[in-house]
Amino acid sequence: MSNYHIKHLEEYFQIYRKSVRDPENFWEEVAEEHFMWRKKWDKVLSWDFTKPEIKWFEGAKLNITENCIDRHLPTHGNKTAIIFEPNDPEEKEQYITFKDLHERVCKMANVLKDQGVKKGDRVCIYLPMIPELAVSVLACARIGAIHSVVFAGFSSSALATRINDSNCKMVITSDGSYRGSKTIDLKGIVDESLEKCPCVETVLVAKRINSEINMTQNRDKWLQPLLDAANDYCPAEIMDSEDPLFILYTSGSTGMPKGMVHSTGGYMVYTAYTFKNVFQYKDEDIYWCTADIGWITGHSYILYGPLANGATTLMFEGVPSYPDFGRFWQIVEKYKVNQFYTAPTAIRALAKENLEYVEKYDLSSLKVMGSVGEPINEEAWHWYNINVGKKKSPIVDTWWQTETGGIMISPIPYATPTIPTYASLPLPGIQPALMDENGQEIKGNQVDGRLCIKFPWPSIARTIWGNHQRYKDTYFSAFENKYFTGDGALRDEVGYYRITGRVDDVIIVSGHNLGTAPIEDAVNEHPAVAESAIVGFPHDVKGNALYGYVILKETGETRNQDNLRKEINQIITEHIGPIAKLDKIQFTSGLPKTRSGKIMRRILRKIASKDTGNLGDTSTLLNPEVVKEIMDNAL
Ligand code: WT7
Repeated sequence: MSNYHIKHLEEYFQIYRKSVRDPENFWEEVAEEHFMWRKKWDKVLSWDFTKPEIKWFEGAKLNITENCIDRHLPTHGNKTAIIFEPNDPEEKEQYITFKDLHERVCKMANVLKDQGVKKGDRVCIYLPMIPELAVSVLACARIGAIHSVVFAGFSSSALATRINDSNCKMVITSDGSYRGSKTIDLKGIVDESLEKCPCVETVLVAKRINSEINMTQNRDKWLQPLLDAANDYCPAEIMDSEDPLFILYTSGSTGMPKGMVHSTGGYMVYTAYTFKNVFQYKDEDIYWCTADIGWITGHSYILYGPLANGATTLMFEGVPSYPDFGRFWQIVEKYKVNQFYTAPTAIRALAKENLEYVEKYDLSSLKVMGSVGEPINEEAWHWYNINVGKKKSPIVDTWWQTETGGIMISPIPYATPTIPTYASLPLPGIQPALMDENGQEIKGNQVDGRLCIKFPWPSIARTIWGNHQRYKDTYFSAFENKYFTGDGALRDEVGYYRITGRVDDVIIVSGHNLGTAPIEDAVNEHPAVAESAIVGFPHDVKGNALYGYVILKETGETRNQDNLRKEINQIITEHIGPIAKLDKIQFTSGLPKTRSGKIMRRILRKIASKDTGNLGDTSTLLNPEVVKEIMDNAL
């Protein structure tokens, strides 16, 4: 029996049991079967969650781009690797074969080398969803440079923080980007960031919108002429399995984002394996994930996982609402998409619109539909199942995180029976545990607790760039010898998992992971603000929206409140990006605090959610009287 491709439930259970009984043997078999190693490993796994230190396929040598590209050339050279669908449906699409991709990545890799980028250097990629983004990511991997992709919706100061944190010597960007009917001045944003980034020596600029931009002498270079002059072959740098492949930032409980570091061999094996099984990808299929490559979903399931399987992966530049709300379904029909992977927030937004937008198109090609980023509510699940999948295309509700690198809990379509709102069962090799508040594992079924993972899997992040202590504190200190996810979950009577949401200060808005601390830091920058607290509250499209409680300084109290609200959101947009804007801002004279000075967010969350029937114990508060004031003035 091959471990690599699960086809029915019995097989899932057999493989799962085997993967838990002897994880090393299990992953060794998967790794041997399907990849191109320049040298095999000396040891499959060594790990110690107390340090923490995790190594997979130690001693092995490989290059991930040889696995994602070169390996497919003899049999699939003329197969389409990437379909590029532009923002504007009138603009012509592009089909990039594996052969083309090889050539483009090699040229780009040679450009990077010519510009002085070496193995281990960090390169920041700040690009829209255009082919140059995929090519840049893979070109970094080709030469062993560590890519740090920053989502091109982040503001200049968020970009600067990320560039500086990992000391990037180069930024790859474009003149601008298209987003629905708008254009965005990406190069202008980069210019602003770089005023604060002395580490950046070179900026490569792709042309996308043909706008007038500023080019700084000796620093900024147009990409295309360099590509035109570059050699179309670049040998792959041979990497150690544990060499870092990329850094990707995610929010945390302090203002500083966490640069999660992913390594090469284990990440490749795990993303390839999970892509194959969770989407049941077959050679002729067309696969489409609507995420942006700026998020982990795009890294693992637009690029590396699909390409490692020789899949055709679609990259869409635009948004679901342009030119109208039928855009996703028009694309599914146009390419006869077989696997479609999107986020609950997109489903909820589209479900609000006229059904004609869906019914107009032939969606009969769909075989698997995925959901990721936040819990999918029952209503959205049914809408997706009935109107998009016509009840014949299973929904895979995939739970995972930037830190986990790949999907952890998910149905296997056509094998695992699905239940709305349940991510269902752990994938092979994944050993979840639910923990109680005293740090004990809760055994048995029909229980809930904090979701941990007991045993390492190949694509777990290895550290936080430049801050291993924070990695240990955040993920390995809450529960002894376990990786703590930050999520709560329940396990039902048959062992299915349902993720109930974050149990820490992270709020998921439209599938984007936002820490409260960085938003509060931004709000507090406003000269009239003394203090603030941000919480989430349920929102019918975004899943959660943000509610801010703001204490004003005396000088601010006489000001027009609506103007203040606008200014506060403007500051958030500048510091983080428009995704972190507050839906509601309530001005208050105080915030409920414990005697140790900690804001009691539990109470603020309840008030924001209009769930004030039972506020719980407020006796430990320093200033219980403020709760009534806040309740009386709640928005
Ligand atoms: C957090 C991780 C993994 C790619 C996108 C988000 C939440 C993610 C689900 C799901 C319930 C989910 C969790 C998790 N989450 N997928 N299927 N059901 N919750 O990556 O930005 O690192 O966020 O997203 O709370 O911890 P991320």
